[in-house]
Amino acid sequence: MSTIKADIGVYGMGVMGKNLARNLARNGYKTAITNRTPSRTAKVMEEHSQEGTFIPSDSVKDFVESLESPRVAIIMVKAGPDTDAVIDQLSEYMAEGDIIVDCGNSLFSDTRRREATCRERGLHFVGCGVSGGEEGALWGPSIMPGGSKWSYDRLGPMFEKISAHVDGVPCCTHVGEDGAGHFVKMIHNGIEYADMQVIGEAYDLMRRAIGLTPLEISEIFAEWNKGDLNSYLIEVSSEVLKQVDAETGTPLVDLIVDAAGQKGTGSWTVQTALDLSVPVTGIGEATFARGLSSSPLQRAAAQGFEGKAAPWAIEDKDAFIEDIRQALFASKLVAYAQGFNEIQAGAAEYNWHINIGDMARIWRGGCIIRAGFLNDVTKAFEKDPELPLLLADDYFYAKIQDAIASWRRIVSLAALHGAPAPVFSSSLSYYDGVRSKRLPAALIQGQRDYFGAHTYKRIDKEGTFHTLWAVEGRPEEQWS
Ligand code: 6PG
Repeated sequence: MSTIKADIGVYGMGVMGKNLARNLARNGYKTAITNRTPSRTAKVMEEHSQEGTFIPSDSVKDFVESLESPRVAIIMVKAGPDTDAVIDQLSEYMAEGDIIVDCGNSLFSDTRRREATCRERGLHFVGCGVSGGEEGALWGPSIMPGGSKWSYDRLGPMFEKISAHVDGVPCCTHVGEDGAGHFVKMIHNGIEYADMQVIGEAYDLMRRAIGLTPLEISEIFAEWNKGDLNSYLIEVSSEVLKQVDAETGTPLVDLIVDAAGQKGTGSWTVQTALDLSVPVTGIGEATFARGLSSSPLQRAAAQGFEGKAAPWAIEDKDAFIEDIRQALFASKLVAYAQGFNEIQAGAAEYNWHINIGDMARIWRGGCIIRAGFLNDVTKAFEKDPELPLLLADDYFYAKIQDAIASWRRIVSLAALHGAPAPVFSSSLSYYDGVRSKRLPAALIQGQRDYFGAHTYKRIDKEGTFHTLWAVEGRPEEQWS
């Protein structure tokens, strides 16, 4: 075994783990590597050992012993029981003060549990979101570490160095205690779902309404990428749409089965939002839209329904395309606003000290939702760290005002012509709901009190009230 000690180690030589290890080694860190199947470790050494200093091990014991104290061991394995198994193996050989970092897409509540267990054993456990896919892991991801401040002091400088940088600023910061890092990564993924869906809705409307080809839409997206919508996901969409199948000459997108997959982080975001009572309608609809696309029985049963929607007759195509761009931008803003609200609610519930502006800042580069407008989001939260609603920031308020007429036109046209636009329309409803002075919730309170004596509050007096609704002339009772 090598006598040099490693600065950091990576357990798990799948693509993400391997690339993170290569990124660390390339940046000058002596990197210990290991894998459940040693042949993978050997393969990394065979193919990449010249990229930096790697210290390979075939056993967990050797791996842990090859690390400089206090040890930092990254786990990059499939989220779930595999993660627990590796934590147990590592803790057997680790000493007090050592740090285990889970860089997988783990559920934040698992991370909270693991952090508590490790703490009892005298170890630090860091649940760390990493975004950017394989390329990001290799060349600079966005990194969202949770856990103790003490552990960040040890590993933060390394993570900041290997992360993406925007304007010289690293896309990595200490997110907050225990599960905060994985919570924020979960929200990132939820927003990713909404962002992908709104791009999909824009694409779909341009095809249905004005018959544009995938290639034409690819060019429009490339153009949009130069303005407010500048983002990795718009760029990716433009690339996907221009791909032509070599064998058939058909746009590849037309040959792909239209059933969207999901690994669960979108659902986690929605389930958690329900628990926290945060309306993340954009993320919710985006997640359900994937579910609808992947419901073959229901879709088959509904084929041939209706078919009598008014035919599209768009005269000014350029104006229509601009309306779609505005609707996309406004719906995207709503989804981000809702995602940030979920982070605020999570922070309040779990007592995390999360700086929301910093989250927007570390998402500016490296991650899947990286986008130009996150600079403006960062500024909005710098101006007011407690901003209750992104859309209330002056800059974004003005953007929504610019978009509103287009947004309404697109949502109504889609409904009129029978085109699904779940995130465009639910986001507009959210906007109209949140800006309403009075909501029908007053009636719902009345209904609840009627059949369940659930009580209600009044706008004109303090207290909690119950009314004997069905008994004419009976006055309400004040319950407290
Ligand atoms: C990232 C991505 C990454 C991934 C998810 C989403 O930040 O690098 O979010 O985590 O693409 O696994 O995948 P699904 O679409 O399969 O849920």
